[in-house]
Amino acid sequence: MNIKAFEGNYKEFQGEALVFLILEGEQEKILKDFEDLKDIFQDFITESEFKAKKEEILKIPVSIIAKEKFPFKKIYLVGLGKKEKLSEETLREVSAKVAKTIKKDKVKKLLIINKAEKSSQPIVEGLILGSYEFNKYKSKKEEKEEKLEEIYISPLTKEELIWGKVGAIAQNFVRDLVNTPPNEINPKTFAEIAKRLAEEYGFEIDIKPPEWVKENMPGLWYVGKGSANKPYFVHIKFKGKNPKKKIAFVGKGLTYDSGGLNIKPEQFMKTMKMDKAGACAVLGIFKALGELKKEGIQLENLEIEGFMGLAENMPDGEAYKPDDIIRMRNGKTVEVHNTDAEGRITLGDVLTYACEQNPEKLVDMATLTGACIVALGEYTAGLFGNNEEFIEQYLRISKKTGERMWNLPMDDELLKENLKGDFADIANLAKTRYGGAITAAMFLQEFVKENIKWIHIDIAGPAWANKPYKYHPQVGGTGFGVRTALFFLKEENEKV
Ligand code: BES
Ligand code: MN
Ligand code: ZN
Repeated sequence: MNIKAFEGNYKEFQGEALVFLILEGEQEKILKDFEDLKDIFQDFITESEFKAKKEEILKIPVSIIAKEKFPFKKIYLVGLGKKEKLSEETLREVSAKVAKTIKKDKVKKLLIINKAEKSSQPIVEGLILGSYEFNKYKSKKEEKEEKLEEIYISPLTKEELIWGKVGAIAQNFVRDLVNTPPNEINPKTFAEIAKRLAEEYGFEIDIKPPEWVKENMPGLWYVGKGSANKPYFVHIKFKGKNPKKKIAFVGKGLTYDSGGLNIKPEQFMKTMKMDKAGACAVLGIFKALGELKKEGIQLENLEIEGFMGLAENMPDGEAYKPDDIIRMRNGKTVEVHNTDAEGRITLGDVLTYACEQNPEKLVDMATLTGACIVALGEYTAGLFGNNEEFIEQYLRISKKTGERMWNLPMDDELLKENLKGDFADIANLAKTRYGGAITAAMFLQEFVKENIKWIHIDIAGPAWANKPYKYHPQVGGTGFGVRTALFFLKEENEKV
């Protein structure tokens, strides 16, 4: 898919179709663009009862009703719904629908005219996200033919095009990683993918092998030592030309979570290749930084670091056990009560390591708890933090990117008691199931330096689509978290 800005008179557009994105009730406004054909278009709209309701589509066969008048053959009128309800998310959703429709109709060259008087960036995102496919492992490809569409958008600024494109490409990259099966992506091969990415875009990268993990990150080691694929740790770095502050991202990278000795029942184990989605999102941020670099954009004021703790949680003779007590990297002891609450143990050490690099702000993304899905539903992430302003900032940006996040409270007063260990400083499982997403976040907080502004995003729900929705055309990884992180970085870069 090749997206470009279009300037000039669209009546002379040398392609197959024009697509008008129109607000509800404003369908007649486009008539004045086609003066001499006003009546015939009017009849078409009236008779079809097209109202421009959200995702409503009317196809006008120009080639039949206005023979030879225009170079293009079809006009699509596409509804955006009511003006009061119009958001960037609406544009993303509707554009995904457009992508699907033109694919079905085999339209290869078209012009989209944005009549909403809003940024066209979400249109770029919706088109790219909505046409995502993951069919690498299907022997029979559904359609062999070349599907490189040429899409023009009007109006479209260079900035809207680049940022929209980069964010969506990075998100699709994350979807690919999350969807790749666990017999292909394990801690070692994940680290190799990160290495290749760093080489491609010229980032510094530090990959720590299992022997290092064993000595330096006992929590990550314990969780992963029961697998034939031993744990790895990856630290990737981006340095702007004139860095004034450091921002860090930490990702949970369980390339598979079988539950370990506390093995998961069958209905909960399947899809647990997605337990690496946090680490994939972190790598996706670097994919975006690399693509920006290619476009000649540098976040010159920032130093950005990514930390990924990679492990496979498996039952085995060498696996960690309930009752084990682990002395973590920061010296605190953790009593294992359940080997399936493994993410927090791996993240404890990775957060400690990230804090040692003294970032100003720290974001972690993790498919941490089923409890978070119970609390907020599967489309919304739980957001926790130790700094109100930072929480507000991230939530504000997430509203623009359409990645749904909701702030949940920490509770030092009452719930903290639930995390006490019988024999060690803390247990990896709270005493009751109530508030499970919160107690998990509070466990993580034990490993974060107080003077570092930190947020934790529990993406267990939205990282995976159980069915297609919005601009997620398939079951599978959604790439959640990347776009908000990217626009957070953009803002941080502009703020200094
Ligand atoms: N990776 C899971 C959380 C998860 C559940 C992610 C469903 C995505 C979808 C995590 O490691 C886990 O197993 N959590 C347990 C914690 C429990 C043992 C305290 C859970 O949520 O059941
Ligand atoms: Mn688990
Ligand atoms: Zn897990």
